[in-house]
This record gives sequence, C-alpha cells and structure tokens, in this order.
Amino acid sequence: MTVLIAYASRAGATRGVAERIATRLRSFGLDVHLDPLLGREEVGRFQAVVLGSPIYSGEWETEAVDFLRRNAPALAGHALWTFSVGWVGRDGTTHDAKHLEEINRLAQAREHRFFVGALDSADLPLVQRLAFRMRGGRSGDFRDWAAIDAWTDEIARQLTASTSAR
Ligand SMILES: Cc1cc2nc3c(=O)[nH]c(=O)nc-3n(C[C@H](O)[C@H](O)[C@H](O)COP(=O)(O)O)c2cc1C
Repeated sequence: MTVLIAYASRAGATRGVAERIATRLRSFGLDVHLDPLLGREEVGRFQAVVLGSPIYSGEWETEAVDFLRRNAPALAGHALWTFSVGWVGRDGTTHDAKHLEEINRLAQAREHRFFVGALDSADLPLVQRLAFRMRGGRSGDFRDWAAIDAWTDEIARQLTASTSAR
C-alpha cells in the first residue's frame, strides 16, 4: 500500500506533523512518500493520500488548495485524509471553519483533523506580533503528539484492514 503525505508549511510546524505521521505509518509497513507540495507527485500512483496545511488568516495555504483543485478527479477514487494546523484562540476556539468549506467543496476526505501548531511570535513582523498579542495568542510549540499519533494509528488501521481484506 503506497501512501502520499503531501503538506504545505511556512514555519515548519506542519512539516513536523507530516514527518511524524510518515514515520509512524512506515512502522506499520506502509510505503510512504513525503512530499512538500511541490506538485511533482502524481496522485494516481498512490493508493491513499494524507494532505495537511497550516491555516493563515483563516485559509489553507494556496499550494494546498491548488493541490486539491488540480488532483480533484484523481482524489475522488482515493482514500483521503486532511489535516489543518493552526492556533487556538483566546476563547479556546479554533479558526477552522472558513477554510474547511473550500476543502469540503473540492474533495471528500474520510476525515479532517485540526491540530494546534507552533509559533514563535518573535519571528513575526511587528504589526503581526501586536495583532497576535491582541488576539490572545501565545508563543510556543503546542503540537499534541499523542493526538497526532492516535489519528495516524487510525489511518494505519483502516489502510492495513483494506489491504488484508483483498
Ligand atoms: C500571520 C499569522 C496568521 C495566522 N492565522 C491563523 C488563523 O487564521 N487561524 C489559525 O488557526 N492559525 C493561524 N495562525 C497560526 C499558524 O497556523 C500556526 O502557527 C502553525 O503552526 C503554522 O504552521 P507552519 O509552521 O507549518 O507554517 C497564524 C499564524 C501567523 C504567523
């Protein structure tokens, strides 16, 4: 079973999640290819796809949306999982709803997950840093590896079950 893990990542947090998922899926004996959405990969040669993007200003990264748009016909016949990486707002809510509409319009994922990412506000330009603070944002790495691993195990369970059923 060959699996494509395609991801976008500006600052590395989503890359880390994608790498973690890849390593764990390989430990189940799956043949995993990790692709930073350079658009070189032919979706058709994989049996399953995991696609992830960070959220910036409420949206998925353009290359992740483009990937979905470009590969929509091929993805229709694939097992697809999608995940977003972002922050949790002051009130504990995520800013997840807006970009999900577009993803759902373009593809039918088996499941979509939101994971809290990582952010160092010192890396932001001053205006963004101030806006981030005003919105109650906190610097740090908040990636929940146990939740990411548990989701990966569920993907592996589904993929290995479909292989052994053949
Ligand atoms: C300028 C800026 C805007 C952001 N906008 C959002 C947002 O609208 N919703 C959200 O959930 N997270 C938002 N984030 C948080 C990022 O998605 C988070 O830091 C993520 O870990 C970045 O992933 P990356 O390192 O793979 O690029 C924003 C971060 C920055 C710096």
